[in-house]
Amino acid sequence: MVAQEQSVSTAGVGEGGESGVAAVVVLAAGQGTRMRSATPKVLHSFGGRSMLGHVLAATAPLDAGSTVVVVGSGRAAVEEHLTQVAPDALPVVQDQQRGSGHAAAVALAAIPDVQGPVLLVNGDAPLLRVETVTALVDAHRAAGNVLTVLTAEVQDPTGLGRIVRDAGGAVRAIVEERDATAEQRAVHEINAGVYIGDAAALRRALAGLGQDNDQGEQYLTDVLARLVAEGAPVGGVPAAEADDVLGCNDQRELAARRRTLNDRVLDDLMRAGVTVVDPMTTWVDVTASVAADAVLQPGTQILGSTSVGPGATVGPDTTLVDTTVDAGASVVRSHCLGAEIGPDASVGPFSYLRPGTRLSRGSKVGAFVETKNAEVGEDSKVPHLSYVGDATIGRGANIGAATVFVNYDGVAKHRTTIGDHVRIGSDSMLVAPVTVGDGAYTAAGSVITTDVPPGAMAIARARQRNVAGWVGRRRSGTPAAEAAAAAQSSAAAAGEGRSEASGTDTEQ
Ligand code: UD1
Ligand code: CA
Repeated sequence: MVAQEQSVSTAGVGEGGESGVAAVVVLAAGQGTRMRSATPKVLHSFGGRSMLGHVLAATAPLDAGSTVVVVGSGRAAVEEHLTQVAPDALPVVQDQQRGSGHAAAVALAAIPDVQGPVLLVNGDAPLLRVETVTALVDAHRAAGNVLTVLTAEVQDPTGLGRIVRDAGGAVRAIVEERDATAEQRAVHEINAGVYIGDAAALRRALAGLGQDNDQGEQYLTDVLARLVAEGAPVGGVPAAEADDVLGCNDQRELAARRRTLNDRVLDDLMRAGVTVVDPMTTWVDVTASVAADAVLQPGTQILGSTSVGPGATVGPDTTLVDTTVDAGASVVRSHCLGAEIGPDASVGPFSYLRPGTRLSRGSKVGAFVETKNAEVGEDSKVPHLSYVGDATIGRGANIGAATVFVNYDGVAKHRTTIGDHVRIGSDSMLVAPVTVGDGAYTAAGSVITTDVPPGAMAIARARQRNVAGWVGRRRSGTPAAEAAAAAQSSAAAAGEGRSEASGTDTEQ
């Protein structure tokens, strides 16, 4: 995903912030074999964040004293990613993937001084919401539990751990599907893979975990039954929204989670007054923002830190990455990266704006124009077929069709400066570094290599010569020669036979 990851602060304040949660532990060492991908599972991204990034964003507001991420498979990549998205998080290595229980034990061993409530969460729960996590923490505290697990009633529990309750409704165990009886498999309340438990109790229960199950792994889920056996109070709290707890184990689930998250984002935008013409083909990252009365046309992607202002129109078929679109601007069938599009500016169709592009109020970048590190002043226009790289263009200027800002000498990039109200003729080459002064003109087809003073007309092209009668002599018998002959004879008949204007040439 091209979107810029946004850093999620997991910096805590000592014992834990207002939530009272002492630590957050994210389990992210698993291989994710079912993804069948060289990319570690938790680094697969959608909606503007990696899966791990989404989980960290959902738990960051707890302001826990420490955040630990258990890494293993693909650990170098995951650790590198963490330095970008959550530099305060502590990566802890689980050398061998011996199960989620083993991963939790390794994490807690890395924070030996932590006491009190610890939130444990699977790294592949990207739809988890802050509200859901907070509700779990609150319920846990209110019940005075030693361990509380987040659960959900789902239509299809296939592959998930089942919540086993007794006749009175008390949670007794979590049983993995592959170890479950037929009766247990019929249960639709599943383990979401999010738990809050007392650090000391977790350490004690994890230390005694066996691996007597179908996979021969240490299951974090077994901690619950062990605590029940001790007589400790445990609970299971259903998530308000079943969507929140959906895991992500293969590419089909990844696509489904992406869709669900996007639907949520679009719902929020539409509730806030954004017009989304076709929600099926409009994608907006959680890290982007769109103001009321903006219109998103079909086939639009609003990615990264992009912000779209009120009354702006984006699309159809447009991708904006880390781009600002101010009020009333329009961007049609274009691709924009790191650009700033000013109020009432117009972009497209078919424009490519690259980083450092800054379009001022009312300016225009039109069809088949590429820009990079370019400032286009107020009401200036680059309407057609141009490359504008490393340029400053003043206000009210017009850059003729097929102008190239020749910014690269093969070794270094150079800048071009265009003054206010300049008129650059079509098919001009502006060979940087070069300056065209205020109010100057350049003639079409010119290669401008030296500065043009304000108000001058620069002409830098070969003078035209016409070789009279060439077609009749060298291409006789062709339709062109016949057409020329006919034109010449009717001109002669009209008495306008004096053809040899100055500059014509009879040689060759
Ligand atoms: C797990 C739960 C299951 C629950 C489901 C929810 C267990 C045993 N089962 O199943 O009850 O319904 O999540 O999605 O936990 N991990 C490590 N190290 C390991 C093994 C796993 O860090 O050695 C991490 C994984 O990266 C993952 C999490 O632990 O984030 C859960 O492991 P996974 O293999 O995905 O378990 P599930 O089969 O999905
Ligand atoms: Ca999983």
